Amino acid sequence: MQDRLVFALRAAGAALAATLFLTGCEEIVYRDREPFSQPLDASSGFLGYYTPTTRQTNCGNCHAEKQAEWLGTKHANAWTDLQASGHAQDFCNSCHTTNEAGNLVAVAAGFSAVQDSVYYDVQCESCHGPGVNHLAGPETNQLLASIAVDTGITNGCGECHTGAHDPFVDEWVQSPHGYASSYVAEGVRDPCANCHEGRRALGVTFAGMDPRLSALVAVKGTYLEANDPIDAEHVQPITCAVCHDPHSASKEGQLRREVGEAELTQLCVSCHRREGAPEPSHAGRRGPHAAQGLIVIDEEAGWKPSGWPYTERLLPTHSINERGCAACHVTPFTINDASGNFVKNYTGHLFAAIPCIDQATGEPIRNGTCSLDQRYFGGCTVSGCHGSAEAARTAFEVLEARMDYLTDQLWADTDGDAVMETTDRGLLPKVLAQAVAANNLNALNLYDTSVTDAERSIWNAQLAASDNRLYWFSFKIQGQNSCNPVSTSSSDKCPGTLRSNTGHRSSGGGVHNPFFLEALLTETIKAIQAKYAVAPDRPVDLTVHAAPPRGVRTASR
Ligand code: HEC
Ligand code: HEC
Ligand code: HEC
Ligand code: HEC
Ligand code: HEC
Ligand code: HEC
Ligand code: HEC
Ligand code: HEC
Repeated sequence: MQDRLVFALRAAGAALAATLFLTGCEEIVYRDREPFSQPLDASSGFLGYYTPTTRQTNCGNCHAEKQAEWLGTKHANAWTDLQASGHAQDFCNSCHTTNEAGNLVAVAAGFSAVQDSVYYDVQCESCHGPGVNHLAGPETNQLLASIAVDTGITNGCGECHTGAHDPFVDEWVQSPHGYASSYVAEGVRDPCANCHEGRRALGVTFAGMDPRLSALVAVKGTYLEANDPIDAEHVQPITCAVCHDPHSASKEGQLRREVGEAELTQLCVSCHRREGAPEPSHAGRRGPHAAQGLIVIDEEAGWKPSGWPYTERLLPTHSINERGCAACHVTPFTINDASGNFVKNYTGHLFAAIPCIDQATGEPIRNGTCSLDQRYFGGCTVSGCHGSAEAARTAFEVLEARMDYLTDQLWADTDGDAVMETTDRGLLPKVLAQAVAANNLNALNLYDTSVTDAERSIWNAQLAASDNRLYWFSFKIQGQNSCNPVSTSSSDKCPGTLRSNTGHRSSGGGVHNPFFLEALLTETIKAIQAKYAVAPDRPVDLTVHAAPPRGVRTASR
């Protein structure tokens, strides 16, 4: 600790020397300054700028690296941009200067108290709070910022990123990453918390810390909530600071990681990648979990039957888009009234790709159910992918129908009871009939530890299935009652309403990687036919309709 302080003070000295050097051509009067100035608003203790003209913060005199990073963010331009807009008014200042907004101070302070250029822009203290006591003892008065956000609380990013123009927090609270998350319980479980809890995601998934809960609790001191215990009461959702770097704009959108690259380390894929392929030996009861990212980048996604004809990853043209997942899932637009007057912005922070639109207000609804013609497809046109929202909607319909046709070849739940029966249509019911006749259910036994090709084909169907075929995500197999419908013990009771097999939707209706998903299904259908000597009732179209990724090569068989 002593070392760091000495280093910090030396850094402050260096900053001063640089100032002298830069002004070296002019006549200068050398004045020995403290590495920090006294607060103009003495009652709150906000220090603000050391040198307003160069945007040198007092904090940055010691925290030189943070200062340099922050200078590249828009927060450092908040005042200039406000003035340049030509619409500056007093009430705008609350979010474009350093004051009580964004931190724990609850009274008018900083620029709200003393209107001086030392308090222009969204400086360090906007988020960290007033620094004067920190300087008196950096070790004990740590000046930690909060990563917590919510509507109606008076600190955190949401205090400024709110309202009709910037309703980021207002949307986020309703999003699956905010308080609409229904699985807060996973936030205290290991390893679930690595993706389901904000602090753990920051520490383990993004900073590569030791994944054991005990170790994480020991790493304290970089933000307020890091010092809280990991328990149900203190669970943090995926807050703004989990995805966004508060200090650095080195990545597009001030994000922590690139959002466009086709890699496992991509921002969204960092979490949307839990389980994409069936394990070699495991009960086949659980299907894909957060496989969306793996499908998009064709990594660890699906069972590739022997004879898989492609030698390289199959990347969708979509993923090459530089905005990656955000191109479809973070699609801001403006909502106007019938006469074209501004009502409010939508920032895209519901994270829905094609949200239902409230037909009365024009606002997107989280988790709405509606027909396709009431969904917003404008996101598909923004990046120039589709000529019009109408064209995108049609393309979506065609693709979904193709996914439905192909998954139906494996199993169509003809009587709609979400139980795979020998009387249902498709190849798997035929495999089941063979197994029943042979009095050996192994081929489709979801409870033994061997994984068969028939079971692997279920996995692939779950990866590709659309919302029109929800039975794939929760079904059981005729005659298999290894779970006990009336049990209350967690070990043998049936999940949900008597279903045995569960998986999460992951194909986005096929959109996440049309060519890959179609190839996966057609190859799977061929493999099942060959392996079990079963044939479809009618001829099946097994060509891949989607446009192939550029330069894709087929291995010769
Ligand atoms: C005089 C030099 C100096 C100035 C000016 C200064 N700090 Fe610090 N700061 C330090 C030192 C040294 C530490 C490390 C103390 C320790 O190791 O516990 C520290 C620690 C911190 C921490 C705790 C996290 C960490 O890395 O240990 C935060 C947050 C922080 N400072 C923010 C600020 C902010 C915001 C300002 C401006 C209001 C500021 N500091 C101004 C020297 C300074
Ligand atoms: C004191 C108010 C305030 C607080 C607190 C605040 N912001 Fe901002 N933020 C702004 C303003 C104002 C701008 C726009 C500055 C400009 O463009 O001139 C902005 C811009 C941004 C941008 C860049 C937007 C763009 O168009 O490139 C991001 C990202 C951002 N903020 C994220 C955050 C995050 C994350 C937090 C919390 C850790 C946060 N902000 C806290 C006021 C604030
Ligand atoms: C409630 C807080 C708040 C208030 C009040 C506020 N702003 Fe902002 N302003 C923001 C935030 C947050 C951003 C960044 C939003 C983003 O990047 O999408 C921003 C961004 C801006 C930008 C930058 C846009 C760009 O990227 O070029 C301008 C200009 C601006 N505001 C002008 C104004 C004006 C004019 C007013 C008053 C009429 C005002 N703001 C009032 C929070 C606020
Ligand atoms: C938009 C809000 C915001 C602004 C502006 C901001 N910080 Fe932070 N800062 C945070 C948050 C949130 C954290 C905790 C999350 C993290 O580490 O990224 C943090 C963490 C820190 C830490 C400890 C962790 C680390 O990375 O070393 C230091 C030190 C720090 N900030 C200093 C500064 C300084 C100095 C400035 C100004 C040059 C500044 N911050 C500007 C929000 C902000
Ligand atoms: C799950 C990750 C995630 C979370 C959580 C999140 N964002 Fe974002 N945010 C994004 C992505 C992705 C973009 C789009 C970046 C781009 O267009 O390149 C974005 C864009 C933004 C922008 C505009 C940046 C720009 O360059 O136009 C602002 C401002 C912003 N977010 C603020 C917030 C705030 C405030 C919160 C919390 C209330 C928040 N975000 C939560 C992922 C996230
Ligand atoms: C820190 C981990 C993490 C990151 C990063 C992340 N997500 Fe998520 N996401 C989750 C979790 C966990 C859930 C499920 C929340 C719940 O329902 O409990 C989720 C849910 C979702 C959902 C809703 C799924 C459904 O079935 O309705 C969408 C859509 C989504 N995320 C998109 C994105 C996008 C796009 C990005 C990148 C901009 C992203 N996520 C980044 C963890 C993350
Ligand atoms: C590698 C990251 C990761 C890990 C680890 C992880 N999950 Fe998830 N989980 C996600 C993401 C992302 C989603 C949202 C997308 C989806 O549903 O496929 C999700 C969704 C869920 C959902 C469905 C939420 C909903 O709203 O429908 C449940 C339940 C769930 N996870 C439970 C767990 C449990 C229990 C564990 C630990 C045994 C766990 N998860 C571990 C990333 C993860
Ligand atoms: C080309 C547009 C597009 C891209 C790129 C995209 N998605 Fe999607 N995503 C969709 C569509 C369309 C849906 C279906 C939405 C619905 O049915 O409401 C969807 C659905 C989802 C869901 C909900 C579960 C499901 O499969 O229906 C999650 C989670 C998700 N996407 C995450 C991601 C992640 C993570 C990425 C990047 C790795 C990504 N998406 C890239 C369009 C896209």
